[in-house]
Amino acid sequence: MADSREQSFDKTYWRTPKSFRFEADERWSAVDKYNWSHLHAGNTKPDPDMLEKVLQSSTDGGLPPIAVSPAHGKFLQIQARLMGAKNIMEVGMLGGYSTIWLASSSPDAKVTSIEIDEDFAALAKKHFGWAGVEKQIEVKVGSAMSEMPKLVEEVKAGKREKIDLAFIDANKPNNLEYFNWCVEMARPGACIIIDNVVRMGRVVDPSAFEDPNVAGTRRAIEAIGKDSRVDATILQMVGDKSYDGFLTAIVKRDASGSSHL
Ligand code: DHB
Ligand code: MG
Repeated sequence: MADSREQSFDKTYWRTPKSFRFEADERWSAVDKYNWSHLHAGNTKPDPDMLEKVLQSSTDGGLPPIAVSPAHGKFLQIQARLMGAKNIMEVGMLGGYSTIWLASSSPDAKVTSIEIDEDFAALAKKHFGWAGVEKQIEVKVGSAMSEMPKLVEEVKAGKREKIDLAFIDANKPNNLEYFNWCVEMARPGACIIIDNVVRMGRVVDPSAFEDPNVAGTRRAIEAIGKDSRVDATILQMVGDKSYDGFLTAIVKRDASGSSHL
């Protein structure tokens, strides 16, 4: 049954000019460009030309310009490599750009990714073919509010492996629900990352508290801070994706929550 917070995806929202929605500073983009040209050139994967083609194809396909930046995508890939992550959950696939980064962390990595928009999912599947990762990705087309409880049940029934790493980057009002389901699916020591938790500082701007995206983000941050199952921090970031941030949480190894570990 549909949850009351379940939303239809408003494609018209994205017609708002990018300059209106995102703060920008040319230094942030120049530094991202410089770093990328040195740190993702040569003996490194995925292929930068393929990644660029995926972003161009997403733009051409009318997708909102909100994929993670190349630097953030590579951060996610390195996080997966640091953990030796095998089972990765992604909430909000869009054109599959971050999904490709996550899947490219290891040939053994398996990514389960949820996308509500079937046109976006179809385009993402084409991109996975370009990246050669299609066999590593299980796409669930539907609302995460209805797909995630099914995945949790599968994990609890032993039909699906526990997750090592999750990346939550979907509609913000439901961030806390997505986070809680990820915790239920996670192995001890798992990592859960949430995108867009700073929102150009609007997360602490009282005049923005009525914005459902800000309210959803604050609700998640405040609940996660009280949740004894996890420990979390937020890093603010600037770059091609404006001024925003990742929340990174670890699922404690001591399941009782009595220790900080
Ligand atoms: C928005 C959503 C995102 O996932 C993102 O990375 C940037 C912006 C948004 O809803 O505005
Ligand atoms: Mg995002």
